[in-house]
Amino acid sequence: MISDTSYDAFVKVRPKISKSQEAVLAVIRSHPEGLTSSPAASPASPPPKPDEEKERAMTQRARTQTLTIGVKRFAKQSNPSPIPRRAGKNKNMNLPINQIINADCLEVLKTFPDKSVDLVITSPPYNMGNKSLGYHPNSSTGDNFYDEYEDDIPIEKYEQFLIDIITNCIRVSKYTFWNMQSLANNKDTIINLQYHFRDNLKDIFIWNKHAVSQISKGVMAKGWEYVFIFGEDSTIDFKENNFPENNYVPNRQTWYKSESIPEHHATFPMELPRYFIQNFARPNGIILDPFLGSGTTAIAAKMEGRNYIGIEISEKYCQIARERLKSVTPKLL
Ligand SMILES: C[S@@+](CC[C@H](N)C(=O)[O-])C[C@H]1O[C@@H](n2cnc3c(N)ncnc32)[C@H](O)[C@@H]1O
Repeated sequence: MISDTSYDAFVKVRPKISKSQEAVLAVIRSHPEGLTSSPAASPASPPPKPDEEKERAMTQRARTQTLTIGVKRFAKQSNPSPIPRRAGKNKNMNLPINQIINADCLEVLKTFPDKSVDLVITSPPYNMGNKSLGYHPNSSTGDNFYDEYEDDIPIEKYEQFLIDIITNCIRVSKYTFWNMQSLANNKDTIINLQYHFRDNLKDIFIWNKHAVSQISKGVMAKGWEYVFIFGEDSTIDFKENNFPENNYVPNRQTWYKSESIPEHHATFPMELPRYFIQNFARPNGIILDPFLGSGTTAIAAKMEGRNYIGIEISEKYCQIARERLKSVTPKLL
């Protein structure tokens, strides 16, 4: 079992460790007294009053009792309790700012203090089956596979994997932008996640895109994807924002990918992370992507003059991301 804070224990259970991981671990080990919280971090919110807590518990019970058939299976296992806090633990952590960590994101996320970054912008694997990224062999893009990661785990395990990661993303950030596409293998999970995190779901953003054809006979070509926006609560307003003066920030946009990365086909269009960074992250904020892939979120953060932290399980993708980052000139704010 890996302790929450011990990177040494983390290293012991991993059979091999890359140079980049070793570098991050060295930074963390060089601060045995504990690591310092980022200046961008906001203070933890005060604990709820007993009355508020009681009211919240009653609302949650009432909601659970009115479950409809569609969510019953999940409701039994769904815990609508608030995101656990790790107050006091590891509060002084020095984050690996502007670094890409080659590791399992859950193990790394667990070590981050509460509210230590501004935004999480990410897209997990979609559980397509057989490592596939979801392209039909007859489509112009052909079938493509992830390096390292086998995108084919039993649905319950997949759901729990995402729940654990989203829970930590909400805990460590102000807002989490979680992109997913509803597909045959994950559409129940998408419904269940919305129910599980209903106390944290602030809004749903729709990304319109090219509809990829020929997925299979009788299946409509998918022309949009979700971006769930999670936060501390489920109110639809964003108290901390960077909105323009006219306050016009639509929760739907059309973006087509203009850049193609031959080794990684499940990438964001650059506009996606840029939009959320511009509208929700303050200057010098920290943007975290726990499923960094080819590095699009980190590049967008650098372009927008923000800091990034990327976590990616494949060393090959980490290298691609680092290469892409080299040619980016940060915007002067
Ligand atoms: C949908 S892709 C993200 C692509 C990214 N948005 C981009 O623009 O390149 C998901 C990524 O998660 C990585 N991954 C899968 N499991 C992981 C884990 N446990 N920890 C970190 N990365 C993981 C995969 O290798 C893959 O690159």
